Amino acid sequence: MKIDVNNITMIYPSGKKALQDISVSAESPEFIGVLGPNGAGKTTLMKLLIAGLLPTKGEILLNDKPLLEQEKQLKAQLGYLPQSFGLYDELTVWEFLDYMAALKGLRGKNSKAAIEKVLECTNMAEQRKVRIRNLSGGQRQRVGIAQALLGEPKLIILDEPTVGLDPEERVKFRNIFSEMAQNKIVLLSTHIVEDVQAVCNRVFVIYNGQLLYDGSPSKLVAKTTGHVGVYLSKLGDDTPEGCQIVSKVNVSEGIQCRIVAESLPEFATAVAPTLEDAYLYCIHKEGRE
Ligand SMILES: Nc1ncnc2c1ncn2[C@@H]1O[C@H](COP(=O)(O)OP(=O)(O)OP(=O)(O)O)[C@@H](O)[C@H]1O
Ligand SMILES: [Mg+2]
Repeated sequence: MKIDVNNITMIYPSGKKALQDISVSAESPEFIGVLGPNGAGKTTLMKLLIAGLLPTKGEILLNDKPLLEQEKQLKAQLGYLPQSFGLYDELTVWEFLDYMAALKGLRGKNSKAAIEKVLECTNMAEQRKVRIRNLSGGQRQRVGIAQALLGEPKLIILDEPTVGLDPEERVKFRNIFSEMAQNKIVLLSTHIVEDVQAVCNRVFVIYNGQLLYDGSPSKLVAKTTGHVGVYLSKLGDDTPEGCQIVSKVNVSEGIQCRIVAESLPEFATAVAPTLEDAYLYCIHKEGRE
């Protein structure tokens, strides 16, 4: 499985430019985390990759052929969890998955086995007969993940899959995603940087429709060394010029502030960056330019 995104620009009919000249390639196996603030263009990129939107400019190739000429192959190989989706409230979990399996072209025994498998790995086997309208928010999300995993797709696109899951389930799911990623391309957007750190070998940082970073999480962290610091402040102190506060922790001597900055102020002590620092620094730097 190979995808090439070549110079994609997406302008919505409203005139909003959501993506600007994006080019990326991915070849399996690859587990890519997509980070970016609200409105950055993450969902737009994902919708373009599933041929749910047509780019204004540029082209997307799937295994070296235009995506739009291969809708059938794409459908057979794609698992997609949209950011917001209507589940069929009146159907039971099983009926819904059976319907989704049919849309993916799975039939008979294959379909049953595939449904059992995803029910098991999403921990929903016991709820198979429950109507979707009677599920909790987190359980609905699990059904969404289950349908995306049906039939072992080669390209898996998950738009904020762990929203609404409790921490234990979230960790469990990211491990499941990681296990399935073998021989596949998985693209996962999230606001939880820790999840990217835990499972992704590659990260995209999207900001304001532009791709600010494409590379390994560890390189992003390495680039941020010397730009993260801590200092002790008092209540009501202003944020130092040119700095962004990452966290404020109450300690017995006052408030310990953690900052990212192009050049750290003298009173700050440099500390080792985390991926979250690195992501915030990347965005902060762009915002100032
Ligand atoms: N159908 C649409 N018509 C017009 N503008 C849109 C449409 N969908 C998205 N946008 C705009 O395009 C930009 C990118 O939106 P997108 O949904 O891709 O962001 P996102 O990175 O997924 O954000 P979030 O983290 O909030 O999910 C935003 O400014 C958004 O308002
Ligand atoms: Mg989105």
